Amino acid sequence: MCVCKKGFNLTETLVLKENFSYLTETLEKREKGKRFYMSKVVLELENVNKTFGKRKVIDNISLSVKEGEVYGFLGPNGSGKTTTIKMILNLIDRDSGIIKVNGYDTKKQFEKAMECIGGIVENPDMYRYMSGIDNLKLHARLRNIDKKRIDEVLKLVELNGRENDKVGKYSLGMKQRLGLALTLLHKPKVLILDEPTNGLDPAGIKKLRDILKEIAHKDGVAVFVSSHILAEMQQMCDKVAVLDNGKIVKVEEISETKEEATEHVELRVKNINKTIKILKEKFNLEAKTEKDAINILLPTENLPKVVKELAISDVEIKAVIPKSHTLEDIFFDATEKEKNKK
Ligand SMILES: Nc1ncnc2c1ncn2[C@@H]1O[C@H](COP(=O)(O)OP(=O)(O)OP(=O)(O)O)[C@@H](O)[C@H]1O
Ligand SMILES: [Mg+2]
Repeated sequence: MCVCKKGFNLTETLVLKENFSYLTETLEKREKGKRFYMSKVVLELENVNKTFGKRKVIDNISLSVKEGEVYGFLGPNGSGKTTTIKMILNLIDRDSGIIKVNGYDTKKQFEKAMECIGGIVENPDMYRYMSGIDNLKLHARLRNIDKKRIDEVLKLVELNGRENDKVGKYSLGMKQRLGLALTLLHKPKVLILDEPTNGLDPAGIKKLRDILKEIAHKDGVAVFVSSHILAEMQQMCDKVAVLDNGKIVKVEEISETKEEATEHVELRVKNINKTIKILKEKFNLEAKTEKDAINILLPTENLPKVVKELAISDVEIKAVIPKSHTLEDIFFDATEKEKNKK
């Protein structure tokens, strides 16, 4: 039996080696994640304005997107999403403000900025009578991109196996994914997509969501994606900016841990005043009352303690209803606050 220098036999050495490579792999992944999450801002908008005729469509918006982040741009129809995206891609001029991609000003350093960005607004550019792979080859040739990259992007967007079919025979989801592959060919640092899930079925949306998360979280690309669908943004994004009437009214991190750590609860009780007093005195909780219900936000692990204390104090509890604090609440809170300011 082989005994190694430090006194481990072969089996022990193999187990150690396996554990060690698992450990280093995990640490590498963590490092990679950390690098991207703590890393630099690659898309920056500062006090950007746009007016069409007399109508102010974009009102002094500022935002920043980091490498490895899926950043949602959420707003109702006509709020200014496409206009903003067109300004980022320099398809239309801004009236004032600064837009930088990877540190390059999109006006003053246009070419350098555009080298770092890829985007799809409305329909992606592609030839229907050509196959998917021929579309990719054509773009690669025009932009002097290595052929090896074609295989990489095909795999990334899960079109390998269908690359030789004519684009005219692709489904909508496949066309969207080919569009994505075309924009990813030159390895952009920032990917901009205007309502990419429009028209896709739930399976297509999930596939696209997984692809975008992979591009961001594994390759460190900053993905900026617009939508008017709240639930979709909640599942897809790390951060969401809420746009209303051309103004950013809220920026919110979509953190799973935050969702888990606190809970919105509605309490239905017989003695409202007594309950509010107990909540304040024993738990330092501020309660909001709405008709016969009390709403509180509290750390998840404290809920059983609160219920127990109320019961001991002879409060008659009719119901305890957990209320999730969703993006929908955030959206309506933010837009409601804006309306009230007017
Ligand atoms: N070329 C243009 N000329 C005049 N007004 C425009 C032009 N483009 C957009 N607008 C106006 O700017 C506002 C914002 O439009 P935009 O297309 O950016 O909204 P959106 O958030 O993308 O909406 P949707 O969800 O419907 O795509 C709308 O009032 C629209 O009518
Ligand atoms: Mg639009």
